[in-house]
Amino acid sequence: MGNPPSRDASLPDHVGAALGAAAGDIARRAGASRSIARIVEPNTLPTVVLEERRLIHREESVRRQADAFREIRTRLLALGGDQNFITMVAPISPRSGGSFVARNLAAAFAFDEAKTALLIDCNLRHPSQHVELRVDTTNGGLIDYLDHPSLGVEKILYHTGIPRLRLIPSGREREIGGEYFSSFRMRAMLDSLRSRYSDRYIFLDGPAAKDSPDARILADLVDFVVLVAGSGRDTPSAIQKVVANFDPSKLAGIVLNELP
Ligand SMILES: Nc1ncnc2c1ncn2[C@@H]1O[C@H](COP(=O)(O)OP(=O)(O)O)[C@@H](O)[C@H]1O
Ligand SMILES: [Mg+2]
Repeated sequence: MGNPPSRDASLPDHVGAALGAAAGDIARRAGASRSIARIVEPNTLPTVVLEERRLIHREESVRRQADAFREIRTRLLALGGDQNFITMVAPISPRSGGSFVARNLAAAFAFDEAKTALLIDCNLRHPSQHVELRVDTTNGGLIDYLDHPSLGVEKILYHTGIPRLRLIPSGREREIGGEYFSSFRMRAMLDSLRSRYSDRYIFLDGPAAKDSPDARILADLVDFVVLVAGSGRDTPSAIQKVVANFDPSKLAGIVLNELP
């Protein structure tokens, strides 16, 4: 992973001055949009809390991880062209860090002030995002909405404390997700969430691909699939077997996650 480009000290003065002015302008604009963000999202979490919750942020201490997620973001944006898209992130086997990657990848998209990110917890048997993000799910989540669309989808879109990142928790726990994920309602919900805001990028946190057909069923609903292998957990042949279940044109890549 490379370092971000730094200002070249050997630049001619007038170029340096122009860059300096541009930087000042960006800083002013960033300042203005930060104050707008504060009004819209009053409970923005401080860095120390983000770090405690193992979420990337802008400070130096997590730079290596943040850069890794930015790199995946760049790759997806290159594949997606100029349209917003839906990505499913699923671990090969459970506890490989699929949810960790889905959450931080969504946060990396939300870092960009021109984008918003929506994370949807689609692991119905072992939902974790509302716990990790400390979201109080009083209005229910995905399953409650799919059972009763008259609830309105706005009710299940929760703030996370990270500007521009929203969560749809899974809601009531269910053993089987397939029937929900292959339903017309699920597809209609995703289509409407995606098309309502062209700057909204959607991430589905999927269940382990090795264990159940759910991840594969979810893959039918998305533009891109990112699989997560926990380092030292799955053999290359096990990974290969899982990969073979997915449409190669959707498979954006496999993240090799170093588990703590
Ligand atoms: N790279 C990582 N750094 C720090 N913690 C991690 C990392 N990957 C996973 N974890 C932690 O390990 C646990 C299992 O990860 P999780 O994302 O829930 O796995 P999965 O969704 O694949 O079942 C979680 O507590 C998660 O926060
Ligand atoms: Mg998970």
